[in-house]
Amino acid sequence: MARLNPLLSRLDAYPLVELTEKRSQVEARNIPLYDFGLGDPVDPTPAFIQDALKAGVQAMSRYPVVQGTPEFRRAVTGYLERRFGVALDPDRSVVPTSGSKEAMFHLPLLVVDRDAPDRAVVFPDPGYPAWQRGALFAGGEAVPIPLEGDFRFRPWELPADLLARTRLLIVNSPHNPTGAVSTLEDLERTWKVCRAHDILLASDETYCDIYEGEPPPSILQVATEGVVAIHTLSKRSSMAGYRTGFFAGDPAWIRRLTDFRANPGVAAQDFVNAAASAAWADDAHPRALARTYMARRRMMEAFLEEAGFEFVRSNATFYIWFKAPAGYDDVGYAARLLEAGIVAAPGRLFALTDTGRDWLRLALMPDSEGCSRAIEAWRALL
Ligand SMILES: Cc1ncc(COP(=O)(O)O)c(C=O)c1O
Repeated sequence: MARLNPLLSRLDAYPLVELTEKRSQVEARNIPLYDFGLGDPVDPTPAFIQDALKAGVQAMSRYPVVQGTPEFRRAVTGYLERRFGVALDPDRSVVPTSGSKEAMFHLPLLVVDRDAPDRAVVFPDPGYPAWQRGALFAGGEAVPIPLEGDFRFRPWELPADLLARTRLLIVNSPHNPTGAVSTLEDLERTWKVCRAHDILLASDETYCDIYEGEPPPSILQVATEGVVAIHTLSKRSSMAGYRTGFFAGDPAWIRRLTDFRANPGVAAQDFVNAAASAAWADDAHPRALARTYMARRRMMEAFLEEAGFEFVRSNATFYIWFKAPAGYDDVGYAARLLEAGIVAAPGRLFALTDTGRDWLRLALMPDSEGCSRAIEAWRALL
């Protein structure tokens, strides 16, 4: 018997692994597959970004520094200024990451004291699995807060005793898996509550550029004190394979993060930073990409509406969160959809409490042709 970290057997297989298995089951039956399972962008990375990566490869390959290149940090602050109207100091307010998953996973290690009674990490549920996992591996108390109704997270309603033992509070807007978007006022109230309890506020803004109409706000528009925002190019620029993102926010916390991140060996490669600098400097390609996702969203939402499904309306993310029809739970309805070749994710894969039961997530990865054929196949099931 291998002597393992007991957490590994306590936590099931990383939840999204199951979706890959479901996909293989459909493939084995040789029927057309409509894969709305994983939020793994399948659209090509813009060519100018690929070129910037190639041009960034140097003859000599030294260790990259944790802070990343000055060019990268300036590209990021330029983006934050254009997108959110906030002016940050590129040399004190930004640190690159290898995507936002590792950023979120490692963050609790910065604040959790595993021997202290106040070691809670609080996050919305359903949500992205790395929030809980990072908290547990750091020895923290992982506290999922069930969402319901409009699925907006309202940390100012949390009980005082929980806030008193919380070190890190995670918000995520636009939200995976529901698409719910917090208002600027929600973010202001959340920030105030975190300041009042001396809690580090981490805002996972992975989907902030996948929207149409009203742009989703950033926590950085509220304040930087006590705040880190987490961004990534995986979704914005279809660059999941590059593994690149950043933390931006409070210079004191960015300093601590930079020191801390010298430990795990997650410094972003300079050629990746070169590609990322090109991506953050351009706003046209994410707008075009968001338009394609939103066209798919409108098609699928129109179908769900016409077929009488309950779902969360949103102008952001490439996810649709809908309720299983009467007589089914999430797992049962996912199995039913598989009969038509449609892969949808059962809500419980994203939830630690009961909030995911009865709900499913569609990731809008099939193109509009795929969406329209999936709708036909789905209609035939009804
Ligand atoms: C809310 C959220 N945070 C973080 C991530 C991780 O993104 P990446 O590591 O590709 O930057 C994802 C990916 O799906 C996500 O949905």
